[in-house]
Amino acid sequence: MIRFTHVTKHYPRGGPALDDASFHVNRGEFVFLTGPSGAGKSTILKLIYVDERPSQGEVRVAGQSSVTMTKHQIPALRRRLGVIFQDFRLLEDRTAEQNVAFALEVIGTSQQQIGPKVARVLTQVGLAAKATALPHELSGGEQQRVAIARALVNDPLVLLADEPTGNLDDRSTRGIFQLLRDINASGTAVMMATHDLALVKSLDFRTLELNRGKLVFDSGAQYPAPADEFDPPVAGSDAGAQPDAQPGAQPAEPPGEAGAAGDVGEAGEAGGAVAEGGAP
Ligand SMILES: Nc1ncnc2c1ncn2[C@@H]1O[C@H](COP(=O)(O)OP(=O)(O)O)[C@@H](O)[C@H]1O
Ligand SMILES: [Mg+2]
Repeated sequence: MIRFTHVTKHYPRGGPALDDASFHVNRGEFVFLTGPSGAGKSTILKLIYVDERPSQGEVRVAGQSSVTMTKHQIPALRRRLGVIFQDFRLLEDRTAEQNVAFALEVIGTSQQQIGPKVARVLTQVGLAAKATALPHELSGGEQQRVAIARALVNDPLVLLADEPTGNLDDRSTRGIFQLLRDINASGTAVMMATHDLALVKSLDFRTLELNRGKLVFDSGAQYPAPADEFDPPVAGSDAGAQPDAQPGAQPAEPPGEAGAAGDVGEAGEAGGAVAEGGAP
């Protein structure tokens, strides 16, 4: 469902934010993305929701390749992704239910369908009773639940969570983390970036560990990627793809012709489930 092949990302200044990273994530997985601040966690998530494009290598998400994707294909891809952030990014002048409804309005869902869908996700995140509250009337944990509801309302393939508990106290952190596990148990893949190593180490979930842009550990690397319904093998491309042999193993071949496309700069239009907290 998500596959990085020798992906390097350079920002205008400084060394590589991501350096020759290869990994894959399957449907329904729960994956921690961990490593210290500046390691490249947010960069990986941004490459997935196409807020950034790779400098080298290929990012494939739901059958779409960063090498061939046009600007016009980005909104449709984003509609299949849910994203949440440390700072919630809610619209402050709209209620919980209006924030969630907004994600449906921008993609043209009919008013008739919006009401029931919003009610369903607010119930799922445990906030049905606070549907008409404004963000400033909610606790941090509750605001993050609204953001999760907004991310889920389009039934995404994967929920991308960038330090979702970074602004929360211990009790809210546990609640949000449990909610993410419940969401995953009902079939949605979750990728959660966190620098909270204690949390990651206490749990037996797939873990990708980054350090200074290098993928230094992948607890799932020994498992071959199953056939992916979004990625039918294309003759001459993925045929005979090798699963990474060992955790931490060096890639066998140099990042050659995998694709150096990522020169389409403007990837940032609003829309889909990646709400920017701004105007439509
Ligand atoms: N927009 C940007 N412009 C320049 N450098 C950036 C930008 N975003 C991130 N970086 C740099 O890339 C590296 C990785 O950042 P990031 O992916 O945000 O790490 P993390 O989320 O693990 O803290 C850091 O050195 C950071 O300073
Ligand atoms: Mg980050």
